[in-house]
Amino acid sequence: MFEPKTHKVLKSVKKRALIDNETYLDWYQQSTKNPEKFWKKHGKRIDWFKPYTKVKNTSFTGDVLIKWYEDGVTNVSYNCIDRHLKKRGDQVAIIWEGDNPYEDKKVTYNELYEQVCRLANVMKSNGVKKGDRVTIYMPMILEAAYAMLACARIGAIHSIVFGGFSPDALAGRIVDCNSTFIITADEGLRGGRVVPLKANTDKAVEHAARDGVEVRNVLVVRRTHGKVDWYEDRDIDYDEAMRLAKPKCPPAKMKAEDPLFILYTSGSTGKPKGVLHTTGGYLVYASMTHEYVFDYHPGDIYWCSADIGWVTGHSYIVYGPLANGATTLMFEGVPNYPTPARFWEVCDKHQVNIFYTAPTAIRALMGAGDSHVTSTSRKSLRTLGSVGEPINPEAWEWYYNIVGEGKCPIVDTWWQTETGGIMITPLPGATDLKPGSATRPFFGVRPQIVDGEGEVLEGAVDGNLCIVDSWPGQMRTVYGDHERFILTYFSTYKGKYFTGDGCRRDEDGYYWITGRVDDVINVSGHRMGTAEVESALVSHDSVSEAAVVGYPHDLKGQGIYCYVTPMSGVEASDDLRKELVKHVREEIGPIATPDKIQFAPGLPKTRSGKIMRRILRKIAENEFSSLGDTSTLADPTVVDDLIENRQNKK
Ligand code: PRX
Repeated sequence: MFEPKTHKVLKSVKKRALIDNETYLDWYQQSTKNPEKFWKKHGKRIDWFKPYTKVKNTSFTGDVLIKWYEDGVTNVSYNCIDRHLKKRGDQVAIIWEGDNPYEDKKVTYNELYEQVCRLANVMKSNGVKKGDRVTIYMPMILEAAYAMLACARIGAIHSIVFGGFSPDALAGRIVDCNSTFIITADEGLRGGRVVPLKANTDKAVEHAARDGVEVRNVLVVRRTHGKVDWYEDRDIDYDEAMRLAKPKCPPAKMKAEDPLFILYTSGSTGKPKGVLHTTGGYLVYASMTHEYVFDYHPGDIYWCSADIGWVTGHSYIVYGPLANGATTLMFEGVPNYPTPARFWEVCDKHQVNIFYTAPTAIRALMGAGDSHVTSTSRKSLRTLGSVGEPINPEAWEWYYNIVGEGKCPIVDTWWQTETGGIMITPLPGATDLKPGSATRPFFGVRPQIVDGEGEVLEGAVDGNLCIVDSWPGQMRTVYGDHERFILTYFSTYKGKYFTGDGCRRDEDGYYWITGRVDDVINVSGHRMGTAEVESALVSHDSVSEAAVVGYPHDLKGQGIYCYVTPMSGVEASDDLRKELVKHVREEIGPIATPDKIQFAPGLPKTRSGKIMRRILRKIAENEFSSLGDTSTLADPTVVDDLIENRQNKK
C-alpha cells in the first residue's frame, strides 16, 4: 500500500514566493471575516472605466442573487490587452505550439491588439451586437483566443463548444442560446489526425434550423486548407474578412454584471446546462487566482495544457494570464504526439516556468516510462499544477519526483465550471503538500462539509462539499433558466452552494476531494452526465432501456459502463455493441465513447420503478460481493444475471 507523505514548503520556493503561510492565514481570515473589504481592495487589480462603489450583493436563498462590483464599468478585452500595451506591447502574449513540433508562432501584445480589434470589426460589420451569443467551435489555434477576446471587446457573449463534440451536440448548444453567428475552422489537427470541424458545423447548422434557429453566418479560419463545402451567402472566409477590417476597435463599456460567456456543462439530469459567467467579478477572480496559485511573476512563461473548450482553458489559458500580462502558451496537440516526451520537449523549447495539466495526462505519460521525461532538461520548470479530477498519490509522486525532480511544488487545484476559478488549492510558498489533497481554500472561499441530511460536520470528517458564501468568480445563473440554477445548486442544502462532490477533511483541515456524489462522471477529466449517455443510447431503435455508471479506470480515472436492455426480438450481439458505440459517438461525440456495454434483459428496479444505480455501480466496479440490501427490488433475480454477465471481470 502506498503511503502518501507530506512535502514541506521548500526553502527555495518560499524565498521567492508571493505568499507565505503567515500571509495566507492572515489574508484568509480577512477575506472570510470581511469579504466586502477584502474584495473591495482586490477588485482594483483590474482597470475600471467607472470605479465600483458597491462590492458584494449576494444571497444563496430565495431567488439566489449574485452580484459583484455591480455599479462598476469595465471591459475584459481592454484588461487583457490594451492596458498592457504601454509597458509590454512588444512582450509575447501568446506562444502557439502546433500539433506538428516544427510549427510554432509568437504573438506580442501589440499584435494581439490588432488581431482582436480586426476580428471585433469583422463581427460588428456582420451584425454581431452587444449581448448576442457567438458560438466558437475551434481547434487550439491563435484565432480561438482572438475570437474570445473579440467577443469580449464588443460585448458579445461567447459559447465555446469543445471540438470533440458531435454535430448534434453542437446543434443543441447553438439552439439553447439562440446563437446565430459561429466561428470555426476548416479542420482541426490533433495528434496528426484531422477533425472535420467545418463539416460538423454544416451539419449542426442544418440541425439547428430544424429546431428553429437560423444561423446567419459561419466565419471559417483556414487551418489545414482541406476541402470544405462552402455556402456563399452564409460562410465568411476569415483571412479575407480580416484583411478588409479596420485595425482599431474601441472596447465596449460593460457593466460588471454583463455576461461574458456561456459554457455548457453536464449535470446529473437533463441536457447540459449553460453556465453563465459575467464580466467584473469573474476577471478579478481569474486573474487573482492565476497570480497567487501559480506564484506567477512578471516575465514567467506559463503553460496550461487544457483545451479552450473547457473552463480551464477560459480562465487559465486566456483570461487569467492575459489579465496579468503574462506570456501564455497555447498547445494545439496531444501529450503523446509524436512521442510521450512532447510535453517536456515543449517545456524546454519555450523555457516554460509554470506548467498546468490534468491527472489523466500524467497517468498516461507515467505509463509510457521515465525515459521520455529524463531525456529532457525541464530546468526552467518552477511550479506544476493539476486539475480536473482527483490525482492518485502514485501519479502525484511521479509528477513531483520525476517531472519536477523534487524541486517544484504541485498545486492540485479543485474547482468547477460553475466556480469560474480555483477554489481549493495549495499556494506554492505557503502550503505543505499532501499528495492527493487539494489542501486549503483560496481567499474568500468558505467550504463546509455536510452529511446527507445537511447536518454540518466539523473537524476531521467525510461528507458532501458545500460552499457557504459567494466569491467573485461564481456563476450567476443557468442561461435562460434561473429556476434550474436554484434547483441544481441551492436546494439540496438550503442556503448553500452544493458542489456535487464528496470530500474528506483531515485533522490538519486539509480537503481531499473524493469524486462526484451525483450522477456525473469524470472521464479523462471530461465531465459527463450519465443521463446524457443514457438518452443517447435509448434514442437508438434497438434499445429499450439503458443505465450508465462510472467505474474506476487506470488511465481515464473513470470509464463509461453501460447497461443496455435491447428491444424485444433484437439480438444482443457484438455487432449491436459496435453499432451502439458508434451511435453514442454521433449523438454526443468521441469523448462519450462507452468503454463497456453489458446487455441486460432487466435492470434492478425498486417496486416503484426506480433504477438502483448503487447496485449497477458495484457490479461495474467488480465489487459485487458487497451489494447491500437487494430485498427491495421488484425482481431480485435480475442481479444474478447482471453479475454473471459483467464486463469488468478481473
Ligand atoms: O469532481 C470535481 C472534479 O471535476 C469537477 C468539475 O468538472 P468541470 O466543471 O469540468 O471542471 C473541471 C476543471 C475545473 C469537480 O466537481 N475536479 C476538478 N478538479 C479537481 C477535481 N476533483 C479532484 N481534484 C481536483 N483537483
